[in-house]
Amino acid sequence: MTMSKTNVTVPLPYILFNGVRHAKDPIHLISKTLNVYDTSTYHLKVARSKRMLTQDPEIINHVLQKNHKNYVKSSIVTDVLSKYAGKGLLTTNGDYWLKQRRLIQPGFHKHKIDELLTDMNAVILSMLDDISAKIANGQSQIDALDEMTRMTLKIVSKALFSSDITDEQINILKDGVQSLQEITLKEVQSPMLSGWRKLSGYQRRSEAHLHQIYELVSTYIRERRADPDPPSDLMSMLLDARYEGTDEGMTDQQILDEILIIFVAGFETTTNALTFCLYLLSQDAAVLQKLKQEVSQIKLSDNPSVREVMGMRYVTQVISESMRLFPPAWFIDRVALDDDEINGETVAKGEIIALYTYGLHRSPDYWSEPDRFDPDRFSAENKHKITANTFLPFGKGPRLCIGAQFAQMEMNLVLYHFIKRFDFKLVEPYQLELDTKITIRPKHGMPMILTPLA
Ligand code: HEM
Repeated sequence: MTMSKTNVTVPLPYILFNGVRHAKDPIHLISKTLNVYDTSTYHLKVARSKRMLTQDPEIINHVLQKNHKNYVKSSIVTDVLSKYAGKGLLTTNGDYWLKQRRLIQPGFHKHKIDELLTDMNAVILSMLDDISAKIANGQSQIDALDEMTRMTLKIVSKALFSSDITDEQINILKDGVQSLQEITLKEVQSPMLSGWRKLSGYQRRSEAHLHQIYELVSTYIRERRADPDPPSDLMSMLLDARYEGTDEGMTDQQILDEILIIFVAGFETTTNALTFCLYLLSQDAAVLQKLKQEVSQIKLSDNPSVREVMGMRYVTQVISESMRLFPPAWFIDRVALDDDEINGETVAKGEIIALYTYGLHRSPDYWSEPDRFDPDRFSAENKHKITANTFLPFGKGPRLCIGAQFAQMEMNLVLYHFIKRFDFKLVEPYQLELDTKITIRPKHGMPMILTPLA
């Protein structure tokens, strides 16, 4: 392992020059900068604002866990993203965040997830039936990204509202969440163009998408408040939850915000992880064969348990390895409340910090042949060799993804059923390019030819 340099400051002209050249590919620019300056952490000064980027696992652990009290979500998330996605778990800090996290956490407890699995399983089977029907009707090609989007939206909607959403509603949710990512990034990257966005109608179009989501979710909340015999789902959990030591629950606005956040944080990340996973499998016959073998030996019941689903060892390894290579949350943001020092690296009060998961997951300091898809890294025999804090797809510390177990169950079940049901191959020629926003996803979808297995 190389000894990392500390306190490297990248000169502004370098960033300005390269930033313009690689504006559409920030991952390339960041990786190149780390390489050029031969460091795992660098600082930048843009006007009066200070920024730091790091893929050093000790620093990342310090920020997320050891001294987490000094590091909160930056205004990119708490002011800009929250303007569109609402003030929910992902976008708030301090006492309010803690109060909400304590209130909502029990809804994601293992036994609650267990209760959701039967419905989750049924949704997956019915979505795969839909794909089979498309193929039977002569559709030769499907877009795996699109199908996974529909799948994860249906799953999270069912878990939240116990109801099946329509295709029209799927489009509303999909467009709305994509709009809010885009508009947040535009506000952060080019605040000076906000007047132009208003004039050109861009702002109005994005807000109209979002308004449709607010309407949709508000209707669900109104209907549920009036339901004398409500089902047991995440929405009921949110409505019934009471703040510690009080008889007080959340207002409709708070519930709307939290639901929106669960959508924003929950469906696109899972979609992207599954799509990248299918891509990697389509490129590796040996791994796919091993996966098929495991899947063929397992017969899940119609109401699987968390234990059963997590027991699918190789399926879990394949998902982990896909998220190592393509972590949907490719960076995690924070801001320092006060000056700090971590192993000689100085952090200034107010410095905005990007914890660069994508680089960490591919660092040759911690992973041998880091770009190779090798699910055996996560096998029972090899797992213990992974250096601490070098694999963080769900983050770490008090703000660890609240939906991690939900997502893991969902991805395992989708992959298991998909592999059992179809042979698949990528439509070539295909060049994987990343669409790098708050999450990463394949820029040109994922065209595949599926052959149903008997
Ligand atoms: C593969 C799928 C997923 C990935 C990679 C992922 C990743 C993450 C990461 C890295 C964080 C931490 C961000 C930070 O520390 O700043 C996070 C937070 C969060 N995630 Fe996930 N997530 C996934 C799925 C889900 C699902 C399915 C849900 C809900 C059903 C969800 C809900 C949330 C929420 C509410 C937070 C904010 C937690 C807090 O700050 O207290 N996520 N997620």
